[in-house]
Amino acid sequence: MSEQDISNTPSVLSDESGILVIGLGLIGGSLLAALRDAGYAGRRYGVDLNPHEVTLGRRMGLIDDGGSDLAAFLPHVSLVVLAVPVMAIAPVMAQLSQLRRHGQVMTDVGSTKSAIRDQIRSALGRVPSWLVLGHPIAGAEKSGVEAANPTLYQHHRVILTPETDTDPQALQRVESLWYTCGAHIECLTVERHDEVLARTSHLPHLLAFSLVDTLARQDDRLDIFRYAAGGFRDFTRIAGSDPVMWRDIYLANRDAVLEALSEFEAGVSELRTAVAGGDGDAMLGIFSRASHARHYFDRLLSQKSYQVMETRNVVYRASAGGQVRGNIRVPGDKSMSHRSIMLGALAEGVTTVEGFLEGEDSLATLQAFREMGVAIEGPQAGRVVIHGVGLHGLKQPKGPLYLGNSGTSMRLFAGLMAGQNFDVTLTGDASLNRRPMGRVADPLRLMGAVIDTGEGGRPPLSVRGGQKLAGIDYDLPMASAQVKSCLLLAGMYAEGDTRVREPAPTRDHTERMLTAFGYPVNRTEDVAHIQGGGGLKGGFVDVPADISSAAFFLVAASITPGANLTLQHVGINPTRIGVINILREMGADIELLNEREVSGEPVADLRVRHAELHGIDIPVDQVPLAIDEFPVLFIAAANARGTTRLRDALELRVKESDRIKAMADGLEVLGVINTVVEDGIDIVGGRYQGGEVESLGDHRIAMAFAVAALRAEGDITIRDCANVATSFPNFPALAGEVGMQIEVVSEGA
Ligand code: S3P
Repeated sequence: MSEQDISNTPSVLSDESGILVIGLGLIGGSLLAALRDAGYAGRRYGVDLNPHEVTLGRRMGLIDDGGSDLAAFLPHVSLVVLAVPVMAIAPVMAQLSQLRRHGQVMTDVGSTKSAIRDQIRSALGRVPSWLVLGHPIAGAEKSGVEAANPTLYQHHRVILTPETDTDPQALQRVESLWYTCGAHIECLTVERHDEVLARTSHLPHLLAFSLVDTLARQDDRLDIFRYAAGGFRDFTRIAGSDPVMWRDIYLANRDAVLEALSEFEAGVSELRTAVAGGDGDAMLGIFSRASHARHYFDRLLSQKSYQVMETRNVVYRASAGGQVRGNIRVPGDKSMSHRSIMLGALAEGVTTVEGFLEGEDSLATLQAFREMGVAIEGPQAGRVVIHGVGLHGLKQPKGPLYLGNSGTSMRLFAGLMAGQNFDVTLTGDASLNRRPMGRVADPLRLMGAVIDTGEGGRPPLSVRGGQKLAGIDYDLPMASAQVKSCLLLAGMYAEGDTRVREPAPTRDHTERMLTAFGYPVNRTEDVAHIQGGGGLKGGFVDVPADISSAAFFLVAASITPGANLTLQHVGINPTRIGVINILREMGADIELLNEREVSGEPVADLRVRHAELHGIDIPVDQVPLAIDEFPVLFIAAANARGTTRLRDALELRVKESDRIKAMADGLEVLGVINTVVEDGIDIVGGRYQGGEVESLGDHRIAMAFAVAALRAEGDITIRDCANVATSFPNFPALAGEVGMQIEVVSEGA
C-alpha cells in the first residue's frame, strides 16, 4: 500500500471546465457538496435517472445543471465521476466510452473493484488509460442526494486502483479531486482492495444484516428490540444500510467475501467450543487478544503504536537550566518486566505482576505471548495477570512475531522458541533488524536448534520447531545477560545440564526469577547451570523501578546545583548497580535508604544530591554492570572536572545504536571535548553550549541529552525521540515534575 503525497499536485479547483457526476446519491451528492464548499471554479453537472434527485440536487445548490441524459452534459466537462450502483458501472462506462472526447478523465466510486474491472474489460477490451478506478471509504446509513454531506470525505481514505498503463496525468487529476475534498489517498491493486474491503466492510455488514434479521424473525422480537441496548445497537448500526447496494456488493465481491466468511466461521467455532466446554482461559485468550487489537487499532490510527513508531517523528526541546527536586518513582524494570511475562506464560497456574513496565519493548513481549495463545489480563496501572499454559502449552502464532525495538525479546525468545514444537519467525524494527543475532543462534545450534538468520546473522530469525535439544557447556565470548538468559531458557527444554560461563558477571534476573518460579538455577563461580525437564509454578512478581531509568535522574541531580531528589523503590541488584558505583567514585552523593528485598530482588529508595564530580578511569569490572547507563554517564563526565576514560566497552557499539559514536557526535555538537577509541572514549568535562543533536532513534541517547540540557548554555534540540517510549513512556512529564523542561515539539507521521 502506498500513501500518496500529492500536496504539490495541480489542484482540481482551478478547473475552468466542469465536472459531471453520474448518479446523484449520498456519495455523488457529497462529492459535489465538498467541491462547491472548497470553491471549485468549473461548472458542476449531475445526471440521474430519477428526476426528483436532479431537482433536489439543483435546489440544494449541488449542481448548476442536470438531467437524465448524459450525452447532453458530457461535452461540457473534463472530469466524469460514476457514482452509480456497482452493477450499472460497466454498461454506463460502455456508453461513455462511445461519447468520450479527447482529454476527458473518468473515475468511479464502486466499492468492489475486480468485478467492475472485469466487466469493463469484457465491454471495452481493456481498462482505458483515461479511466482510474477508485473507492472512497466513507458512507452513512442514509442514502439519496438529500443526505449529501460536504464533510463526508474529510480525513477519510480514498483507495485508487490504477492499472500499470493508467495515464499518470489522469491519475493525478483524480487524486487532486479527492484531495480537494479533504481525503487521504492510497493506491492498491484491485485484488488487494477487494480482500481488504471484504474483511473490513463487507463481512461486518453481512453479519449485522444477518443478526438483525435473525432476531427480527423470532416470536418475541418486540421484547428483544425493546430491551436491546448498547451492544446490539452498536453492533448492528450498519444493518440500516441500503439493501440493494449491499446485494450488489456481495454479487460482485463473492469470492473475497466467502473467504473472509470462512475465516470468521472458524473463529466463531473456536469460541463456540470454548463456551460449550466452559473453557474460561480459552475465552479470555481470545477476548484479550481482540481487546488489545481493538485498542491497538485505535492507537494505530492515531499513530501511537509501537508498530508505527518507526515512522513517527518526535523531537524534544530541552530548555537550558532547570532544577531537580522531589520524590518520584520511575517506571518498572525492563529486564524484569520481560522475564515476568515469559516465565508467567510458561508456568503452571496464574501469575500476577505488579510494577510492570508499560513501555513498547515489554508490551512487544506481552503481545507475542498473546499471539501464542496465552491469556493475559492488563496491563492496567502496572498490573498484569498471566494465565500460564505450562512449558509445552504455547500455540503456533498465525504470523511472524514482531518484537519492535526490543533486543531482549528477540534474544530470549530465540532460546524459548528453540524448544517449541512449532516453527516461528522473529522480526523487529529497523534498529533491531541491524543487531547481531549470531551470538544466540550459534550456541543454540550447538544445542541442536535449527535456526536461520538474515544476512550477516541479523534478524529475521526463523526457528524450526520440534527439535531435540541437548545441554551444552558454553563459554560466552562476550559479557551478555541476553545470551546467557537465552541459553538458560533453552536449557529448560534440553536434555541434561546447560552450563554458561561468563567472562564477567552480568545481570542475573533470569536466574533469580527462574528460582522464584520454582525452577532452580545454580551457580558455581562464573558458571550458571540449569537442568532440563523441570517446570515453573506461577506466583507473584513485584517489579521494582528500573535503575536504568533512575540513572537519568541520578546524573541529573548530581550535576545540578541545589538538587535533592528521592527515587522510590529502585531495583539495586548487585549486577545492575555499576551506575551508582561509578557515580560515587566520581564524587556523587547517593544514599540507599530503606533497603529491602521483594520477589527475590534487592530494592531501595535512592536519595541523590548535587555534588562536584571529577573525572575517573572507569573500572573495567563495572562496565557490564552499567552497560545501559553509559550514555548518561557520559553526560556526568561532561560535567566533571578533568577527564573520564572508558575502555573495554565494545558492546556499546551494538546496542540500539552505536552508543559510543552517537554520544560522541552529540557531545561534539555541544562543544564537549572527547576522543573516541574503538572500545571506549575519553571525555573532558567543562562548560558546553546548546545545539541540535541526533538520538538515532535510541531511547537512552535521547534521554541522556535531555539531562545534559540542565547545565548547557543553550537549549538542546534532540531529534528522533519516539523510541523513548520503549523503556520510559512518561519521561518528559516525569522530568517536568522534578523541574526539568522538555518540550515535545513535534509528533506525527
Ligand atoms: C538486558 C541485557 C543487556 C542490556 C539490555 C537488557 C537483559 O544486553 O543492554 O538492555 O534484559 O538481559 P546484553 O546482554 O546485550 O548486554
